[in-house]
Amino acid sequence: MKIKANCKINIGLDVLRKREDGYHDLSTVMVPVEGLYDVVEVVPVEGEENEFHSLGLVVDCPAEQNLCIKAARLMQQRYDVGKVSITLDKRVPFGAGLGGGSSDATAVLVAMNEIFSLSLDEPTLIALAAELGSDTAFFVRNSPQLCEGRGEIMTPIDLNLKGLWLVLVKPDEGVSTREAYAGVKPAVPARSLVERLADPITQWQGSVKNDFEPSVFAAHPVIADVKQQLLDAGAVYASMSGSGSTVFGLFDSKEKAEQLRPLTEYIYEL
Ligand code: C5P
Repeated sequence: MKIKANCKINIGLDVLRKREDGYHDLSTVMVPVEGLYDVVEVVPVEGEENEFHSLGLVVDCPAEQNLCIKAARLMQQRYDVGKVSITLDKRVPFGAGLGGGSSDATAVLVAMNEIFSLSLDEPTLIALAAELGSDTAFFVRNSPQLCEGRGEIMTPIDLNLKGLWLVLVKPDEGVSTREAYAGVKPAVPARSLVERLADPITQWQGSVKNDFEPSVFAAHPVIADVKQQLLDAGAVYASMSGSGSTVFGLFDSKEKAEQLRPLTEYIYEL
């Protein structure tokens, strides 16, 4: 079974507080980007071991530690299912804040649910996904969601971005999730993210913020420059996604979005 494991962007990301368990409580809206995806193929095998094959972008991670293999093992621990061969065709940049690895892992859960006819319901898949990471649960729903808690408590949100053009720019410098959290200063904003997102999109800049930006931009000025370039090109709204380093811009016309073509191949109509 082959699945298109699309990536996501974060529109607004409030880091509210540090928790006792070392994680942070967040309030963020995640939106799927259908146009940019990895292809994950999962097939059952007779052998003693799971197999992992990778194509496309080179991931600097041993197969053993790949989240896809961890997802397969989790299913095999919990359910009476056989071994699998996973082929990952990697197209989504990593270290990017786009949730590519999380999406791949969730794709493996969803594929194994199908292949082995487990008939697991959505809450069960969400709980399994949340054991593998913080962004993974989102991809079970894969529609615009307000994500709270560690990221796994989801509420659907009606965010109408139809007609806008999305430009993603992945600067060469990556940012690790660990690095991003190390620099963040948690704070509870006066107005909730949902309230601020209800304002016209033309008022989002300066109000709908990503709390990772100040420290990440200080350490990587190149990323701040990319955001400024998107705004200078006429983006209605621009922000870093997740813990970076990808920066995205929303544009009200294809022409404006296409001006960024020399900088990126990732341009999509929403
Ligand atoms: O859960 P995930 O593997 O995506 O997170 C990687 C790291 O990011 C965690 O080990 C934790 O240090 C940090 N993190 C956090 N609060 C979150 C999500 C992640 O502190 N809500």
